[in-house]
Amino acid sequence: MMILIRLDKHELISRTKYLLNVISRPCITGVWTQRCRKCSSRTQNRQAQSFSVTTPIFYVNAAPHMGHLYTCVLADAVARYHRLKGKQILFSTGTDEHGLKIQQAADQSKESPALFTTNVSRTFKEMFDCYNINYTDYIRTSEQRHFTTVQKFWTELETRGYIYKGSYEGWYSVSDEAFLTEVDVTEVVNKKGEKIMVSKESGNPVTWMKEDNYMFKLSEFTERLHKWLDTGVIQPAMFTPIAQHWLSNPQDLSVSRPSSRLSWGIPVPADSSQTIYVWLDALVNYLTVCGYPSLEKRWPADVQVIGKDILKFHAIYWPAFLMAAGLELPKKIFCHSHWLINCVKMSKSLGNVVDPMVVKEKYSAEVFRYYLLREGVPHSDGNYLEEKAMEYVNSDVVNTFGNLLSRCTASAINRDQIYPRKDQDTYISSITAADRETFENIEILIDTVEGYYQDMMMYKAIESIMSYLRWANGLVENHKIWDLAKSDQEADVLHLKCVLHLALDTLRVSGILLQPVIPNISERLLNRLGIPKDRRTFECARKPYLNSPELPLGPNEGVLLKRLKIN
Ligand code: MSP
Repeated sequence: MMILIRLDKHELISRTKYLLNVISRPCITGVWTQRCRKCSSRTQNRQAQSFSVTTPIFYVNAAPHMGHLYTCVLADAVARYHRLKGKQILFSTGTDEHGLKIQQAADQSKESPALFTTNVSRTFKEMFDCYNINYTDYIRTSEQRHFTTVQKFWTELETRGYIYKGSYEGWYSVSDEAFLTEVDVTEVVNKKGEKIMVSKESGNPVTWMKEDNYMFKLSEFTERLHKWLDTGVIQPAMFTPIAQHWLSNPQDLSVSRPSSRLSWGIPVPADSSQTIYVWLDALVNYLTVCGYPSLEKRWPADVQVIGKDILKFHAIYWPAFLMAAGLELPKKIFCHSHWLINCVKMSKSLGNVVDPMVVKEKYSAEVFRYYLLREGVPHSDGNYLEEKAMEYVNSDVVNTFGNLLSRCTASAINRDQIYPRKDQDTYISSITAADRETFENIEILIDTVEGYYQDMMMYKAIESIMSYLRWANGLVENHKIWDLAKSDQEADVLHLKCVLHLALDTLRVSGILLQPVIPNISERLLNRLGIPKDRRTFECARKPYLNSPELPLGPNEGVLLKRLKIN
C-alpha cells in the first residue's frame, strides 16, 4: 500500500471502513443524499447542500487571545472545507456582552457597558477579519434582534410550563457566570493568605447567593439528556462521560437574577424586576442567527464548536432548553481542549495570554492559523512555547511546502516555466514502482484527508498532506533534478519533466487540500502553478491535471513562505 501517508495499518483500515460506512449507511441526516437512494425529499436535499457551524460567543470583558482564535480557526477550517464541497454555509460567531462579569469590567474601566462592549467587540471582529475567519454572521447579544429572540424563547419555555418562580441558595462564580453546588467548590488560601471558596473546575472564586428568581425545570430532562448523550453527539467521545457525570445529581436551574444586582442584561418578559441568566441569553444566540422562531430550515446546527470549559452549558443546559422549547438538537458538539502557556491555562483573568495581533507580526496570520490547527489537538491541551513553535513551523511548513515549490519553479530547473507533461515511457523507466504507486494512489490520500476534515481532526489531515509533500521532496532529491537540469540530453530532459510533473502535481493536490487551513497561501501556490480558479475543488484534486499540452506556470509573485526569524 502507499507509504507516503503516515497511517499505520489499523488506521488505514479504520479510515477505509469509515468511508465504506459513509457510502453504505442508510441516510439519517440527508447529508449524503446523492449516494443514498432512499433519500428523496427536498428538505433532505436542502440540508445536504448546506452546512452550519457555530462558535461560542466571546466574553467582552477583555481583549481576545490565542485560545479564542483557536476556536474560531477550527470552525472556519471546517466551514471552508464544506464550502469547497459546494455547500451553502452558515457560520456564526460573535460576542457575549451581558452579565455581571461584563457589567463589572465596564465599571472598572469607567465606561458605560454599551460603549465598553462596543469597543471590545470590535477588537474581536478585527482579529477575526485579520485571520481570515470567513463567518457569515457576527452576532452581538446587545443587538435588538437578539433581545427580541431571547424574550420570545423565554415566553415559549414559560408557556410550555418549564419555568416557575422560586428561590436559589448556593454558590455563584461571576468569572464563569455559573451556579455551583457544594461538591463543585472547595476552600483554598489566596495570595493574601485569606481562606476563600473557589470552583474546583475553574479555580475561580465563588460567592454565596440567596435570592428569589425564576427556575427552569432542568431535572425533568435527565432521562432524555442521557439518551441524547448516548448517541455520541459529543465529539471527541472522551468528553461524553464528563457530560454524563453532570446528570448524576438532577437539580433545577436558576435562570434569572434580580435586576437590582444585575441590570446589564435582558429583562424577563412581563417582570422587569428580574434579568435573564446570562447563559440562557447567550445560548439563544444560536437561534437568533437562524431567525427564530421561523428558523428557515437553518436549525439545527451541523456542528457547534466549543472549548471543554463550557461543555456543561452546551451538553446539558442547551439541549434541555431546546427540548423544552420543542426544538431539534444540534447534530454535533465538537469540544476541544485548551491552550496552555508554560503548562497553565491561558486566560484573561490570569494575565498570561498570547495576543493574536502581536504574534501575527512574527508568523503572519496564515502561518499562525497553520500552527494552531497543526499543533492543536482536540483531546489534550496544547502548550505554547514561542521558540519551539517557530522552529516547528520552519521545519514543517516552510521547509517542506515552501522549498518544494521554489525548487520546482526555479528558472534554473524549470527553464520553460511550465507544468510539464510526463512521458509515459520515461515514467515507467525512471520512476520506481513504489513511487508510481504512491503517485497513482492519490485518491486514498484525498479520501483520508476528507474523512479527517469531516471529523474535524485537522491536525491529522495536515499531517497526511505533509507526509505526501515530504515524499515529493524525497523524490526530487533522489532524482537529482539539479544535475538533470544541466543536461541537454533528450533522456535527461524527459526525466526531469517527469519528476517535475510528479512534484508539481503533488503541490497542486496539497494546495487544494490545504485550502481550509491556509486559504491565502494555498491560493498563492495554486496561482503560481497556473491552476485555473474553477479547478481547485476537492473533486478536481482527484483528477490528474491536464497532461497535454504543457501548460504555463502562473506569475512569480515572490517567496511563498519565509523562514521565521527566531530571536
Ligand atoms: N461567553 C461564553 C460562551 C457563550 S456561548 C453561548 C464564553 N466565552 S469565553 O470568551 O470565555 O470563551 C469562548 C471560547 O474560547 C470557549 O470555547 C473557550 O473554551 C475558548 N477558550 C478560552 N480560553 C481558551 C484557551 N486557553 N484555549 C483554548 N480555548 C479557550 O465562555
